[in-house]
Amino acid sequence: MKAPAVEVCGLQVRRGRTTVFDGLDVTIAAGAITRLLGPSGCGKTTLMRSIVGVQKTAGGTVTVLGEPAGSAQLRHLVAYDTQAASVYPDLTVRQNLRYFAGVVGAPRGDIDRVIGQVSLQGQADQLVSSLSGGQENRVSLAVAMLGSPELIILDEPTVGLDPVLREELWKVFRTLAEGGATLLVSSHVMDEALRCDRLLLMRAGKLIADTTPDGLLAETGTSDPDAAFLTLIEREAAA
Ligand SMILES: Nc1ncnc2c1ncn2[C@@H]1O[C@H](COP(=O)(O)OP(=O)(O)O)[C@@H](O)[C@H]1O
Ligand SMILES: [Mg+2]
Repeated sequence: MKAPAVEVCGLQVRRGRTTVFDGLDVTIAAGAITRLLGPSGCGKTTLMRSIVGVQKTAGGTVTVLGEPAGSAQLRHLVAYDTQAASVYPDLTVRQNLRYFAGVVGAPRGDIDRVIGQVSLQGQADQLVSSLSGGQENRVSLAVAMLGSPELIILDEPTVGLDPVLREELWKVFRTLAEGGATLLVSSHVMDEALRCDRLLLMRAGKLIADTTPDGLLAETGTSDPDAAFLTLIEREAAA
């Protein structure tokens, strides 16, 4: 078996007066798509920030591809698409990608590849400020796919996208995973919960399940991800 892509041990994070994690342990398998699911405020973004190495931590360790999170060696190996689009509104789609390709050292040919992968061929020369919210999100997703990152962290990438586009993006995620990349994809809704290889369910800063789509349904005796999540929460509360 391959070494895990990410190992989080005893992670402690406080943000403001909130203790977000008080000793969180999480392992993320390499070469798979892991879905990080849980209600708003449960700590998904904080966990992603900790893995990228931009979150101040109060204890524990986060090891990414064998290195401490945030190490210089990881800079070109880890891609992160934040929840809020983080591209330049006063540049076109293509100009943004050209700029970020330079930053991560991606080849020129990558720009057209990623524009195609997020279906923005028709908007390539449009200013980002003139795009819809969903299109703007896709630009930052395209940025995360530049180069050949080994670990791709996407914070709620399909929120606000129509079903056809979501379908297309899942195909892209699958292709990236088949090419050997590890994907961590968060969502606060359970839809698409069954489209991944691994499922991490979080609630209030705690991991309440580390399973597979089939495992989730089998363990909870339901065919509906929402019902499964509620069952797990009830079990946790009763324990
Ligand atoms: N900048 C911040 N200052 C103080 N508390 C924060 C900050 N950002 C997030 N939090 C708190 O940390 C917890 C986890 O937030 P977050 O990781 O963003 O959750 P999620 O991504 O699952 O919605 C929440 O209770 C949130 O209110
Ligand atoms: Mg979040």
